Amino acid sequence: MTPPAGRSRPGTLFPEASHDLIEGLAKVPDLLKRIQPLKEKHRKALAGSVRRLSTFLTVERDSLPADYMTRPEYMAAYLHYFMPWNIYRQGRLLMGLDFSLKAGSTVLDFGAGPLTFLQAMWLTRPHMRSNNYQYVGIDRSEPGLKAGRKLFEGLAGEDGRNWKIITERQLGAARKFAPADLIVAGNFINELSPPRAAAIGEATAEDLLLQRWEGLLKPDAAILVIEPGTRSSARQLVRLRQAALATGWQVAAPCSHHEECAMPGTRGGPWCHFNFIPQDIPEWLFKFSRRVKLPKERASLSFLLLKRGENCPVKTVTPPTPAKVEGLVRVISETFELPHGRMGRYGCGEKGLILLENAKTPQPGPQPGDLLTVTWPEKDRRDAKSKAIIVSATE
Ligand SMILES: C[S@@+](CC[C@H](N)C(=O)[O-])C[C@H]1O[C@@H](n2cnc3c(N)ncnc32)[C@H](O)[C@@H]1O
Repeated sequence: MTPPAGRSRPGTLFPEASHDLIEGLAKVPDLLKRIQPLKEKHRKALAGSVRRLSTFLTVERDSLPADYMTRPEYMAAYLHYFMPWNIYRQGRLLMGLDFSLKAGSTVLDFGAGPLTFLQAMWLTRPHMRSNNYQYVGIDRSEPGLKAGRKLFEGLAGEDGRNWKIITERQLGAARKFAPADLIVAGNFINELSPPRAAAIGEATAEDLLLQRWEGLLKPDAAILVIEPGTRSSARQLVRLRQAALATGWQVAAPCSHHEECAMPGTRGGPWCHFNFIPQDIPEWLFKFSRRVKLPKERASLSFLLLKRGENCPVKTVTPPTPAKVEGLVRVISETFELPHGRMGRYGCGEKGLILLENAKTPQPGPQPGDLLTVTWPEKDRRDAKSKAIIVSATE
């Protein structure tokens, strides 16, 4: 099934948001007023709470209170700022991913919070709305789950009854709903205990996580993990990718190959993540983000989509394997200027780190998330600084 409509470049991961996604996000403030009215003191403190929670979720992660989703001030901050941005980010990604669930499928969402992924899936998958699904949102914080359920009822209305929404507080409760078709985790694995460095030959935290998840899935299944666009999150995803490849999973996206990761974020090197311009967010979110002094010129994330089996929910993400002289390169970075009037952006392909370059043009050229078919040069030419293979971006 092709990805839902939206103005898009072929093969891109982040097509512009659809009308439904923007309309849905535009309704969030009114729905929140109804389902989670703010006490006066929390309304007055909202901007400060958003900034404090932002600091905890980014630079002071070790101080993040484990129960932040149960504290009214942080809960309000999450619902008004972080959740809408996450619905937007996850929605834009969902629009570019070619996955579709058969009627009757079960989705397990770990660390679901206010059911962010469910809201994004509803808003970006209109063709799935009339099918029956079972969605299980699991989170240790009850208030987030409750608010998410009410928000979904508000966004989806009567039609939402086709989807059976279940919420659970214990991660272990997932066993009751196994085997599932899809496991999702959004901004969750970076909240699990920091991984202890594994000795050579010892299982990593990601090996163990994958083992637990595998036991909950059908033989034909998918796993989608979406994390912040930070170096530490990208490194966790690289370890999860390694664990998955070692146990027979295929990486459906963002990688165009199963070779070693070219952007693992080690030793100060580049890490795999995507930035995209949130030009289409609703006016209220733009203004609110400015008011709380956390405007965003870029939305950013890192992610991994794994698949297993012929009949898994992910059909085709990459075009058919090109001829030997051609290869697939996923554009990762934004465009930057190179000497001599040329433009470049970093990408990733089976040959490793790639510098895609072209002469400066008025057109923006390939964007983060685009998948390009390139012709490999007969003889590798390397960028002196990054050691990336230089490839033309214009073919
Ligand atoms: C940053 S929020 C993400 C919420 C949502 N997935 C999103 O993308 O907006 C992380 C969530 O993980 C939950 N969480 C963290 N550790 C957990 C654990 N060990 N068991 C259950 N939930 C957990 C937190 O309560 C929180 O709601």
